[in-house]
Amino acid sequence: MPSISILPPAVADQIAAGEVVERPSSVLKELVENSVDAGASAIDIAIEDGGRRLVRVSDDGAGMSADEVPLALARHGTSKIRKASDLVGVSTFGFRGEALPAIASVSHFEIETAAADGEGTSTKVTGGHVGKPERIARRRGTTVSVAQLFYNVPARLKFLRSARSEWRSAVESLTALALTQPGIRINVSNDGKSALTLPPVTSVRSRLGAIWGGRYAEDLLDVDDVAGPIHTSGLAQRPADVGTSTRRAFLSINGRAVRDAGIGRAVEAAYRSTIIAGVRPSFFLNVTVPADSVDVNVHPAKAEVRFRDRWTVERAVETAVRRALGNFDSAASLGYRGPSFVFRAVDLPPNPGAEILQPPVSRDAPLFEQSVPDFSGGSNELEAYEQVEVSAPAAPIPPLIQLRRTYIAFEHEDGLVLIDQHSAHERVLYEQFMRTLESGAAPAQRLLLPLTLHLGPAEGEAFDANREYLERLGFEVEGFGGHTLIVNTVPMPHPRFDAERCLRETLDALTGDRVAGAAARHERLAATVACKAAIKAGEELSQSEMRALFAALRDTTLPAHDVHGRSTIVHLTWDEVERRFGRR
Ligand SMILES: Nc1ncnc2c1ncn2[C@@H]1O[C@H](COP(=O)(O)OP(=O)(O)OP(=O)(O)O)[C@@H](O)[C@H]1O
Ligand SMILES: [Mg+2]
Repeated sequence: MPSISILPPAVADQIAAGEVVERPSSVLKELVENSVDAGASAIDIAIEDGGRRLVRVSDDGAGMSADEVPLALARHGTSKIRKASDLVGVSTFGFRGEALPAIASVSHFEIETAAADGEGTSTKVTGGHVGKPERIARRRGTTVSVAQLFYNVPARLKFLRSARSEWRSAVESLTALALTQPGIRINVSNDGKSALTLPPVTSVRSRLGAIWGGRYAEDLLDVDDVAGPIHTSGLAQRPADVGTSTRRAFLSINGRAVRDAGIGRAVEAAYRSTIIAGVRPSFFLNVTVPADSVDVNVHPAKAEVRFRDRWTVERAVETAVRRALGNFDSAASLGYRGPSFVFRAVDLPPNPGAEILQPPVSRDAPLFEQSVPDFSGGSNELEAYEQVEVSAPAAPIPPLIQLRRTYIAFEHEDGLVLIDQHSAHERVLYEQFMRTLESGAAPAQRLLLPLTLHLGPAEGEAFDANREYLERLGFEVEGFGGHTLIVNTVPMPHPRFDAERCLRETLDALTGDRVAGAAARHERLAATVACKAAIKAGEELSQSEMRALFAALRDTTLPAHDVHGRSTIVHLTWDEVERRFGRR
């Protein structure tokens, strides 16, 4: 047997660093958590080269006096707990007293700190070797700079990813923290350029708005429910929006951002039957549980917790989210989101704009007719279908099936083909709108109860600038002074069309838009309205709707791409299929 010896502290720190510090984002997380623990109201972060060259965190928190710094840099040096029992219900992020020494053992590290204005010290640590502290003048607070992470651990250095992917990881862990601390001002620069500015706010929704845009934040549902000692609060996605944007899932337990697959599944269970199976909702939740019912000291980076009674927590979260969706569902059954009014389609008296389309001599008319999928119900469906068949005699439409209420699948001579229903409809509407903008008015439906919209100044301006074109697309509007609009007719791309939402989103997208030239403006407007008006993923389509869409897509000039340039069609050749089955 070899002889046993105790490792020198620098080696022990490096080993600890292996657990706590995996990449620049873990450094960032530890430093920002320390700043929050120090009561900071503002945190400034500088990242360089994805954090590989530099991670610097400055705060205006409590700071440290000169004699506290060596303790902070020593292993197990912490101000946050004194005895093991303090761990129960610990309310600070930190409690182990190992983050700073671990980070300092694998980097060029510097800490500048002052417990009172003007009385600062600066200490450099290189690969764990603590230098002589120097007096400096600085305001109360702390700045920690971590340069050349893993410069002395080649094995680790090798595993760092590109600057871009390290940056992404840093943003992700910072986002999680920022959501748990909406009241703290956070500024981030990336390679010297300001990358993220989060003003202090009073709600998670506002913070979300600052990160992903007000529109995104507005569309989320409030979750707020108490079950015994468990309080679930935050925001979750409307069922209709699930799957339409990047999925984001953020969870904190007693204010600590963590991952928890079990709670993630509980949230998904709450959505059951409101969304298609397989797509996953976005949510931003904090769950408060009694301090003694959760152990926060089970993961090296504190990224997970252990519950004493997991089942009860999961059920509480599921119920809370379910209730939030329930509130929403009842309003949605009216056919609209948000404002509760109902409208019905009535025949429009012929209007001069529509007449332009009527004469059979118009070159655009038949084309236009052909490419409008008829999404109305009943016997019309058959007509639409027959029309389509007649107008596209080239090839019969193959049997179609809808998959995940998102794709239309069919068999083709040389393979299996999937059409993305939203992208496809977007393409169809875009070309239809372009023709309409250039030649006349689109068929519209008159609202039984006109829609009243109050616009902000920017939206109002966007409306004024595009009014003529929006009217041609079917939004017949009366201005009502200030920026209140009365909308009398709306386009009718499909029966589930949410006209108010479409108009609002379109104006939002056009805000501040300075597109020169009518052609460019047409394109921009047609693309925007098409995107907002197209059927979404998750909507069930009837056979005839699928056939109409299929035929209409086939008649477009660019059927393979939607207006964002994404594919509308994916083709899996029999060759590939057979290779997968090992037949080739
Ligand atoms: N930004 C800061 N402002 C004021 N004090 C700080 C700051 N960062 C660290 N400290 C002090 O240094 C101590 C050590 O920090 P360190 O992160 O190593 O351990 P910890 O936060 O106590 O526990 P953990 O290892 O779990 O993070 C802290 O307990 C705190 O007293
Ligand atoms: Mg800490």
